[in-house]
Amino acid sequence: MVFAVACAALALWAGAMMPAAADEAAAPPPPPPSLDDFVPDVVRHPPVDVLAVRFGDKQLGLGEELTPTQVKAPPALTWEANAQDFYTVCMTDPDAPSRATPTNREFLHWLVGNVPGGDVARGEVLAEYVGSGPPLGTGLHRYVLLVFRQPGRMEFDDEPRRNATSRIGRPRFSVQHFADRFALEQPAVAGTYYLAQWDDYVPTLHAQFTS
Ligand SMILES: *[C@@H]1O[C@H](CO)[C@@H](O)[C@H](O)[C@H]1NC(C)=O
Repeated sequence: MVFAVACAALALWAGAMMPAAADEAAAPPPPPPSLDDFVPDVVRHPPVDVLAVRFGDKQLGLGEELTPTQVKAPPALTWEANAQDFYTVCMTDPDAPSRATPTNREFLHWLVGNVPGGDVARGEVLAEYVGSGPPLGTGLHRYVLLVFRQPGRMEFDDEPRRNATSRIGRPRFSVQHFADRFALEQPAVAGTYYLAQWDDYVPTLHAQFTS
């Protein structure tokens, strides 16, 4: 009798478990983040190495989600830089205004050329840093950070300068096009990305744009 009840219970339990097991088989877990996750949307080839990025005390994991609040200020970047080389550093959003409909791909967030060795602060600012401002309801955007080695010290004379209070010159940027135009070494020596979606800091960020 006890055995019969146990068998019935086991049969019920097995029946209840079956659909869940079937669901898992139908939807395999997503692959882990990789440097291919923005190829070819941003660049033709993935960067050689993962770029080390730190926003304040927060060390970025590749493809991790951060909030606009966490990325207000420019991050610290570390890569295997040669002291005698110059680099171009870029942060760009291919998912503007949304990943589903990226009609403004890419929105340029940060561009610094002639970075001597690994010292971004001593580079030539072509676009001042602006943090992530994904509009409400547009889901997760990818924010891609790349470091290209330059053939040498370069003149960026015909490249516009973009300040942090203006959107001018930021939408419909292409870092691939920029790298081709200035013959930067490809693929990029280092890169990474994070994901972000709207949070309540975004209206403050948008208010900093006066044009
Ligand atoms: C920022 O750039 C815009 C567009 O080029 C310009 O109109 C504005 O005067 C600049 N603002 C500052 C503070 O330089």
